[in-house]
Amino acid sequence: MFKDIVFTPNEFAQLAKIDKTLIPAFENNGIINTHRKRIGNVDRKVLSLEEVQNFFKMLREFDEAKHAEVNAQLMGAGAEAAGSAMIVNDAIAAATKFIAANPKNKTQMFYNVKGGTGKSTLTAQCVMIASILGFRVLAIDLDGQGHLTVNLDVLDSHERPTIYDVLINDLPIDQAIMNVSPGLDLIPANLQLCNIEIPLNNKTRREYRLSEAIVKISDQYDLIIADTNPAASILNGSMLVASDRVNVICATNPLSFHGMSLVMATIDEMQREFKRVLDVKIIPNMYDNREVISQEVLGELRSQFPENCANTVVNRSADLNEATKRRTVVLDVNPKGNASTDLTDLTHELLT
Ligand SMILES: Nc1ncnc2c1ncn2[C@@H]1O[C@H](COP(=O)(O)OP(=O)(O)O)[C@@H](O)[C@H]1O
Ligand SMILES: [Mg+2]
Repeated sequence: MFKDIVFTPNEFAQLAKIDKTLIPAFENNGIINTHRKRIGNVDRKVLSLEEVQNFFKMLREFDEAKHAEVNAQLMGAGAEAAGSAMIVNDAIAAATKFIAANPKNKTQMFYNVKGGTGKSTLTAQCVMIASILGFRVLAIDLDGQGHLTVNLDVLDSHERPTIYDVLINDLPIDQAIMNVSPGLDLIPANLQLCNIEIPLNNKTRREYRLSEAIVKISDQYDLIIADTNPAASILNGSMLVASDRVNVICATNPLSFHGMSLVMATIDEMQREFKRVLDVKIIPNMYDNREVISQEVLGELRSQFPENCANTVVNRSADLNEATKRRTVVLDVNPKGNASTDLTDLTHELLT
């Protein structure tokens, strides 16, 4: 389960992009806390989810002034202690460079009218990783299939309110929010959401209801990310009205590529209709560098949509299926694998 994830000091160092030899100094200076946990037959030193989140929160609050303040305090300490603390302080200052203090685009959606391109999988992984990085995250499942909900290990969504109740039955949005793990909340979905289009169509200001609801709770979060249903639906249009950024997930295969012009045209049309200017990013997924067709599609995406193509390419990896099966983050499955690197890079890219 995601909320029970633990990180070895090496895994933590990789995530924080610090030299692992600095870990003891970080511990001695109280920058990170570790605890011991029995894994298999071995008693290991690990960091819990909250211990890692606390580090990243501290990192984001660390500015020039704090850096100078800590350095000044160190002058009073013994030479050896001060030396080690100075190294830590410098490492922290370096680490702050890669982590966004605040996400540039707070409200985002993962979108494609085509199904099976990896929207729900990547949404789930990115919201979990963003929460590991200490951001307060709200995930919203806008697909009646509820795959994001299941990916986040919520299996009783049929008994829970969804965005249907908020948009159609006027349930206050905060009552549809549940906590999944420290720092990660979810508005789940269930099959009832498949029937929302007709009642939503009959509502006044139908496309604005979702964004008006989200505004009420947006102060409580650093990042709000929705997974959408594979259609040009009113519900997806509503999320577009609420969003600052659209992430179009495109599998690197010919049919997915063929659908891209339509998807981009649909987004353009919606931006005009609702007078919105959004950051639109295409995220190539399921890339396999051994396949010529994968390389061709990636090349075409980059040449046809040079402004929109994300830097991160998500490689095809069985680890993602395994993470889905275990309903956890891919860092929990294979922290050293390609998929962990890709999804961590992608999450950083969403934040900047
Ligand atoms: N990069 C990837 N490598 C391997 N399998 C992937 C990758 N991305 C997604 N998948 C798998 O593809 C399938 C469809 O993904 P899903 O997220 O449900 O797509 P969508 O939400 O767009 O319909 C799932 O079985 C998922 O595990
Ligand atoms: Mg899906």
